[in-house]
Amino acid sequence: MTEDRRNLVLTGFMGTGKSSVGQHVARALERPFVDMDTLIVEREGMSIPEIFRKRGEDAFRRLERELCRELSAREGLVIATGGGALVDDENRRHMEDGGCVICLDCGAEELVERLGQGEGRPMLRGDDPTERMRELLAARRPAYARIPH
Ligand code: S3P
Repeated sequence: MTEDRRNLVLTGFMGTGKSSVGQHVARALERPFVDMDTLIVEREGMSIPEIFRKRGEDAFRRLERELCRELSAREGLVIATGGGALVDDENRRHMEDGGCVICLDCGAEELVERLGQGEGRPMLRGDDPTERMRELLAARRPAYARIPH
């Protein structure tokens, strides 16, 4: 049997475990692991909150879009996306073309525990990170539901 060389892509809301699960899966499959946020931070020489603060969310989303295209043209990778990356239909289609996309899920109460005050996560900044998380989760549910696995 020939090995399936398609990328394995893990996506889902912040705190669902994409990076941790991705590292374990990559080790088990003996494949390279790519964490999209980590790669963006390395390339830009700035943390994610800094990118948002200095260049704005649109600039971050552009970097994400370019990276989705770049990675979907490669094969044999285990990829953890940022939580918002595949909310965009075009990004999702690119990743689906290049691999098997799996959406991780997690109960809202557990996410509240895991995300705490939203440290390091600019999408949760504001007076009430938990309320912001619930709003964002509700708004993104339909997009996550479009991912088949
Ligand atoms: C984001 C999630 C973050 C990171 C950025 C935006 C989002 O990744 O890409 O802060 O829009 O949900 P994690 O899901 O790894 O926290």
